[in-house]
Amino acid sequence: MAILVTGGAGFIGSHTCVELLNANYEVVVLDNLHNASEKSLERVKELTGKEVKFYKGDILDRDILNKVFAENKIDSCIHFAGLKAVGESVQKPWEYYENNIAGTLTLVDVMRQNNCKNIIFSSSATVYGNPAQIPITEQCPKGQCTNPYGWTKSMLEQILSDIQKADQEWNVVLLRYFNPIGAHPSGRMGENPNGIPNNLMPYITQVAIGKLPELGVFGNDYDTPDGTGVRDYIHVVDLAVGHVAALKKIEEKAGLKIYNLGTGVGYSVLDIVKNFEEANGIKIPYQIKPRRAGDIATCYSDATLAKEELGWTAKYGIKEMCADSWRWQKNNPNGYDD
Ligand code: NAD
Ligand code: UFG
Repeated sequence: MAILVTGGAGFIGSHTCVELLNANYEVVVLDNLHNASEKSLERVKELTGKEVKFYKGDILDRDILNKVFAENKIDSCIHFAGLKAVGESVQKPWEYYENNIAGTLTLVDVMRQNNCKNIIFSSSATVYGNPAQIPITEQCPKGQCTNPYGWTKSMLEQILSDIQKADQEWNVVLLRYFNPIGAHPSGRMGENPNGIPNNLMPYITQVAIGKLPELGVFGNDYDTPDGTGVRDYIHVVDLAVGHVAALKKIEEKAGLKIYNLGTGVGYSVLDIVKNFEEANGIKIPYQIKPRRAGDIATCYSDATLAKEELGWTAKYGIKEMCADSWRWQKNNPNGYDD
């Protein structure tokens, strides 16, 4: 039996492929390469010594989905495929709703026609909006999202929950990721953003390598210890391992489950700058800039439920996250184009 990994050539997907293969799962990837390079899958093979079966195609395309199900015995799907740039989603809401929502509806329809009713979905801490409590437990109510990307996650959680409620043969695990950073410790796989990065860590690594002159710190007047935004950064390998743990819940036929995947520790923007500098011996020049629209002050998880029910906890600390992010950037200044 194989696991279908949609979006498996992307940042989190490629790292998850490594962990799945290391845990002896058979892996089939469907990715349209909109935001990824097929080279990431060559690196997966290099790191594991195992093959990934790859289909270049879109989750909106029923024909390719039917072909994937006809040619493989798919037991479960880990569904990463989606557009994820917050700012772009404000400019292109139709494209985000079409790709993420219509894409998932198409995928789920083909899954059920093929009697595959197990799905792990990439959700996000963004569904909590401005969180009602810190640290954030899964009991914390969902909030108002500030952009269409966030709404696609929130709506897809609702859609998948309703589908599971109506047909209890479905097993649905919603994983709410906090802030994934880091890279494979080998330095062979990592994040490959197009253009100027929106997210903090890839921005810092591009300053470190000299592609960008300095970091802009978006606000230092938040109600946080140093005034800059606080987030729960999690190593991408820990996140990947979390998906393998979640598969166990699918195998136990656990119905609908929701887990935060975070470390439970919050770091400010300036904490990250300092830790990056200490881990790598590189100075990161920065300038305080106005707040970025839609940002909240503080967001970090209570990850107790994942520990209790999945036996999963994050193992990597912030220094390793910073060192691994830098190793990837330094060894691959142009990402997979090198
Ligand atoms: P990514 O862009 O690296 O990976 C997404 C992959 O999906 C890419 O390889 C892209 O080519 C593919 N894709 C997009 N639309 C597709 C479609 N219609 N058909 C087939 N393939 C398609 O992003 P990532 O950081 O690896 O994120 C993976 C998932 O996790 C996404 O759903 C994202 O929204 C979610 N997530 C990411 C973060 C984060 O900070 N990175 C946080 C929370 C949730
Ligand atoms: N930041 C800067 N300068 C930058 C980039 C970011 O100061 O150049 C700050 C932000 O203001 C924020 C922190 O760094 O305080 C983290 O920002 P990111 O853009 O890296 O991450 P976000 O917390 O805004 O959002 C990310 C993903 C979302 C996801 C969320 C989950 O982009 O898709 O994590 O918590 F939903």
